[in-house]
Amino acid sequence: MSIFYVLVVLLLLLQNPSSTQCHTKGMRPRPYAGSGLSTNMTKVQISEQQFMRWVKFVGGLKHSVFKTAQNKLFPSHTLHVSKNHGKGGFSSIQAAIDSLPFINVVRVVIKVHAGVYTEKVNIPAFKSFITIQGAGADNTIVQWGDTAQTHGPNGQLLGTFGSATFAVNSPYFIAKNITFKNTSPVPAPGAVGKQAVALRISGDTAIFVGCKFLGAQDTLYDHLGRHYYKDCYIEGSVDFIFGNALSLFEGCHVHAIAQVTGALTAQGRNSLLEDTGFSFVHCKVTGSGALYLGRAWGPFSRVVFAYTYMDNIIIPKGWYNWGDPNREMTVFYGQYKCTGAGASFAGRVSWSRELTDEEAKPFISLSYIDGSEWINISL
Ligand SMILES: *[C@@H]1O[C@H](CO)[C@@H](O)[C@H](O)[C@H]1NC(C)=O
Ligand SMILES: *[C@@H]1O[C@H](CO)[C@@H](O)[C@H](O)[C@H]1NC(C)=O
Repeated sequence: MSIFYVLVVLLLLLQNPSSTQCHTKGMRPRPYAGSGLSTNMTKVQISEQQFMRWVKFVGGLKHSVFKTAQNKLFPSHTLHVSKNHGKGGFSSIQAAIDSLPFINVVRVVIKVHAGVYTEKVNIPAFKSFITIQGAGADNTIVQWGDTAQTHGPNGQLLGTFGSATFAVNSPYFIAKNITFKNTSPVPAPGAVGKQAVALRISGDTAIFVGCKFLGAQDTLYDHLGRHYYKDCYIEGSVDFIFGNALSLFEGCHVHAIAQVTGALTAQGRNSLLEDTGFSFVHCKVTGSGALYLGRAWGPFSRVVFAYTYMDNIIIPKGWYNWGDPNREMTVFYGQYKCTGAGASFAGRVSWSRELTDEEAKPFISLSYIDGSEWINISL
């Protein structure tokens, strides 16, 4: 038994050397180490100092803090999944994934032809370099309807983690032009156990282009690693983009379907040491209900909206401390050059901020996620 675990750990290290340090980008930040912090500094000042050091560091463009990504973008072979069994290939996405070797080392494109695929999909940790290519997000849909309260095969509760329709545990994943959906209905206000994830991404260096994520509570579990979302549509009610990844959302449309009060993000950064956060750039926020931009799921939660249009559904305070006033001193919530009636800074909580050019800089380009190393969406 224990030998098995040692083997698994070794394999993990071999397969994805960066995974162990996803959230502690080497040299940043170095709290309390010869940094001249006086014991008199408040948490706010410490947090501020750490942040400005990080801004300088990222702005310096000579950081390589995660291990260098070695993506393989050029397709090695293509598998087909279709509803027409006659055409050959596979009739489910999971069957196509299961056909790959236990450790996958080449880029495999899985073309998922038009249709609604009602199945739960899991991509294991060693099946790297998988591309899922739909026939347009409105044409290819993968859906399932588990919630945190659904019982799994052994009778255990699935929990939020296990509720995902589509779960990705491997690095270098790419999805294009496909919809990931959790069909569970919008829970009544105050209902418990209704978390229902459409997609969970736990692998480093993932790219989503032209995808839709549909659900209600907890739609997109942006769990761990560096992720890039381009031209995507994300719909939900409460905490519908959540997790502890380092992610850039560019040109995305975020749509709330909350009946009363909702929250767009619940970013889970837990300490100064973790280099995680969500950045929304040139996005659009629309929908129903009254929406917080974010709730401080982690005490060091970090979220920025830049150049983003916000409809008149944003609660003026903007952000919620998750019932813990201590978090107001350590979270980092910012806006930069946003537009629309919901973007007004007038009513915002005092512990969020309108970013300066310098402060915004690290959040608004691909370098936020070391993207030049591993992103090429033209392939
Ligand atoms: C810390 O505060 C005390 C009392 O307010 C003061 O005497 C001391 O000089 C301060 N130390 C530093 C390093 O600022
Ligand atoms: C795929 O997504 C891209 C990006 O959103 C879009 O430009 C393109 O038209 C989509 N293709 C199809 C077939 O839907």
